[in-house]
Amino acid sequence: MLDRIFDNWCNDAGYLLDHATASQVDKVAEEFVFAGPFFVLNMANGNPIIIETNTLQMEEGAHYKPAPIFESVDRWVTHKPGTRVDIPDAQRALIRDRMLGILFSQSFDIIDRGIGTREDLNFGCQIALGFKKGSLDIMRDLGETEVNRIMARFQEERPGFPQPKQPYTHYQDFYRYLLVDEMDGVKIITIRRPQALNAITDELNNEILSVLKAHADDPGVKGFVITGYGNRAFSAGADIGKFPETLGKREAAAKYAKDCAEVQVFMDHMEKPVVAALNGMALGGGLEIALRCHAMVATRNAFLQFPEITLGILPGIGGCIVPYRKWPQGAEMFHEMICLARPIKAKEAADMGMVSRVVNDDPELIQAAVEEVKSLVGNVKGTPDGKVDIPEFKLPEEPKAGGLALSKEAVSIIVKTIEAGAAAATFEEALEIGYQGNAEIACTEAAKEGISAFLEKRKPVFNK
Ligand code: COA
Repeated sequence: MLDRIFDNWCNDAGYLLDHATASQVDKVAEEFVFAGPFFVLNMANGNPIIIETNTLQMEEGAHYKPAPIFESVDRWVTHKPGTRVDIPDAQRALIRDRMLGILFSQSFDIIDRGIGTREDLNFGCQIALGFKKGSLDIMRDLGETEVNRIMARFQEERPGFPQPKQPYTHYQDFYRYLLVDEMDGVKIITIRRPQALNAITDELNNEILSVLKAHADDPGVKGFVITGYGNRAFSAGADIGKFPETLGKREAAAKYAKDCAEVQVFMDHMEKPVVAALNGMALGGGLEIALRCHAMVATRNAFLQFPEITLGILPGIGGCIVPYRKWPQGAEMFHEMICLARPIKAKEAADMGMVSRVVNDDPELIQAAVEEVKSLVGNVKGTPDGKVDIPEFKLPEEPKAGGLALSKEAVSIIVKTIEAGAAAATFEEALEIGYQGNAEIACTEAAKEGISAFLEKRKPVFNK
């Protein structure tokens, strides 16, 4: 599937050399990929590969013929990605349309002939071919009219190549960040965004909600498992790239937390069980989804952590509220987890009653999660209402996480939020206190520093 994309992308770049230099083609392509086709061919000594695979593809038509220039050139004269290259507008438009034409043509063909799924194609372009967005995402950004225009031009310039066989919407109707499978009547939702350790964007969150909603009343579905792709992360939390938008904005920060919590609030009201299968790290916003599921199972290597305080913020989607209500026996441990970012291993979470089973590997994990769903059918319990007694905080004078000195101001907002949340008469009120805590902390210097530091890939320095 991805060879078809890559080889034809390069082959058409070869044909474009009738109209432009290799460097100009690479530069235009850099809008969509981290490095243009000729730069990559140089890196991979890839010219023979294009000749070989495109000759093979000529079984499907002479239009796949390799560009003759690949026979006579060893290395291409091109620039390092990111270098400035001047290209006249008309030439730029010609290159861009042609590169997109071949990309879309192959994408349509792959889907129409069932060579690959929309999910895998879009994902594979990013993860394996270095595209900044999947080919179907690029189509979505451009919109139907523009895609049609590009395809019409492509047909004229490169007759014979596949055109779409279905309406535009068909190619867009899929989950971009989830895999949804079924096992014994249980829907297995796998968060698949390994390039960011399965961090949760708004779109990803909405996709989870949409799967839950689609089958919540489906009599053929017993329940759900939520897990993460790969063996490193269940999820590394909410996507931090979004956070700067709410910094310093009280109302926006409260609303953001509440909007993110839609999945959790929906799960609160579900009759069907949802079980989190922790296959690796479950951090921050990812942990807040897992904690709200009706049970958790985990592999031995999984760990649970609220790193928010190291970003100068707090877990605002129920993280300061839910654990105390569900497992009051763990309150002291939760204080340390939330105020000092202490990670806990799956085994420790199991000893505290949070995780129902710890297993050795992924296949066992999914099996255990499915069994857990079955055992919970008809017996789903919500998060307890009412006030909870929590022990007093015994925090160090100079709070630290690992070697990092934390913000005392941020820690004190967290302590206040946890205490007020525990004292709230209802779960709903407590959640609202959590969202307001998020709003308050988003307006601190600590949040600004912590989030900027993460995005700038440096260690934060908290002054108060
Ligand atoms: N939001 C957005 N992107 C995230 C992310 C998050 N929560 N967690 C990880 N990523 C991204 C990284 O930015 C990196 O992207 P890049 O390759 O484009 O630079 C990629 O995922 C891999 O992470 P990286 O940090 O390079 O891996 P690592 O093994 O060095 O570190 C962690 C792993 C988990 C310690 C580190 O990624 C981290 O601290 N993440 C943030 C965790 C957090 O604070 N979550 C709470 C938010 S609510």
